[in-house]
Amino acid sequence: MTKTLTALGLESSCDDTAAAVVRLDADGPSILSSVVEGQTDLHALYGGVVPEIAARAHTEKLDYCIELALQNADMTLTDLDAIAVTAGPGLIGGVLSGVMCAKGLSAATGLPLIGVNHLAGHALTPRLTDQLQYPYLMLLVSGGHCQFLIVRSATDYTRLGGTIDDAPGEAFDKTARLLGLPQPGGPSVEQEALKGDPKRFAFPRPLLDRDGCDMSFSGLKTAVLRARDAVIAEHQGLPTKDRADLCAGFQAAVTDVLVEKTRRALRIYLDEKPDHPALAVAGGVAANQTIRTGLLHLTEQLNTRFVAPPLALCTDNAAMIAYAGAELFQLGHSDDLTLSARPRWPLDQSSAPMLGFGKKGAKA
Ligand code: KG4
Ligand code: ZN
Repeated sequence: MTKTLTALGLESSCDDTAAAVVRLDADGPSILSSVVEGQTDLHALYGGVVPEIAARAHTEKLDYCIELALQNADMTLTDLDAIAVTAGPGLIGGVLSGVMCAKGLSAATGLPLIGVNHLAGHALTPRLTDQLQYPYLMLLVSGGHCQFLIVRSATDYTRLGGTIDDAPGEAFDKTARLLGLPQPGGPSVEQEALKGDPKRFAFPRPLLDRDGCDMSFSGLKTAVLRARDAVIAEHQGLPTKDRADLCAGFQAAVTDVLVEKTRRALRIYLDEKPDHPALAVAGGVAANQTIRTGLLHLTEQLNTRFVAPPLALCTDNAAMIAYAGAELFQLGHSDDLTLSARPRWPLDQSSAPMLGFGKKGAKA
């Protein structure tokens, strides 16, 4: 990696509009700017992301984000070598907004255009932040994603398993709603759980009795709902202590499932005898301290490095798209103006497609 390459990245696949400038040179990658405009307020009324509202907001915000990203990097379009854009998977209207915007910029400037898989952006982030060497194991855990990937190169991924229904972040958000806690549910459930007894409610550990790395989280929230209703029936309300115990029990169940399934995924990955074994996590749920600690202890037992990029780069952003685009461009990949937006786009083309749609759109 010697030739200097500066790429603009655009991200608009869900409810964050983002633009960033990333440079690759002999010293490795650096983020020159990264702008993220969230849409949480726009969707708050509806209890989930409304695709049409998201797409319109992306169209309105993309120009502003790009201008700000260039300004923060102290650059103009002429300083760039390539334009990378999320071309899927995600909510199709949002993905289209980004792809059309990138095509316009590419047509106007003559700069190469690179369509990036959003999941590749997440999966390659540990190379941007920690220059991790291939192959490594990646656990993506957010409100929309949940899967294990062996990352072998920017174009070669093996999916070992993932959720067959809700993503863990979705389960945290739904549990928070059931217990009258604010959104996003992850941080509020985690906060409550600190005061609770994780052993009081024996919540199920779904799919642990089944071989493989697939997971399921939708039954857990039903178990929380039943336990909550039993408490309410007994006390004519939900006492604070019971709510904390419900949160702690739920979080313990999610942690046990994630840690045990990661142990299985690591076993498959370590069987390949990688030179520098590493597990990396990405996604908002990776912010959870109990889950993080569980994964850290597991990697210590298995002599594997644990990499958790800073949260701002674990959640949706455009620096990861610019970086992934730059790696792809270095490998000789680029697209033309026929680049299309793909609502579904599995990284591992050989594995079975995932089922279901999360609150944040299609799961790849
Ligand atoms: O990666 P992200 O920002 O967006 C996508 O889903 O793409 O992840 C957001 C999700 C939400 O569901 C949120 O509740 C969850 O990550 N989350 C957490 C925590 N912080 C955020 N879940 C558990 N514990 C947390 N501390
Ligand atoms: Zn994402």
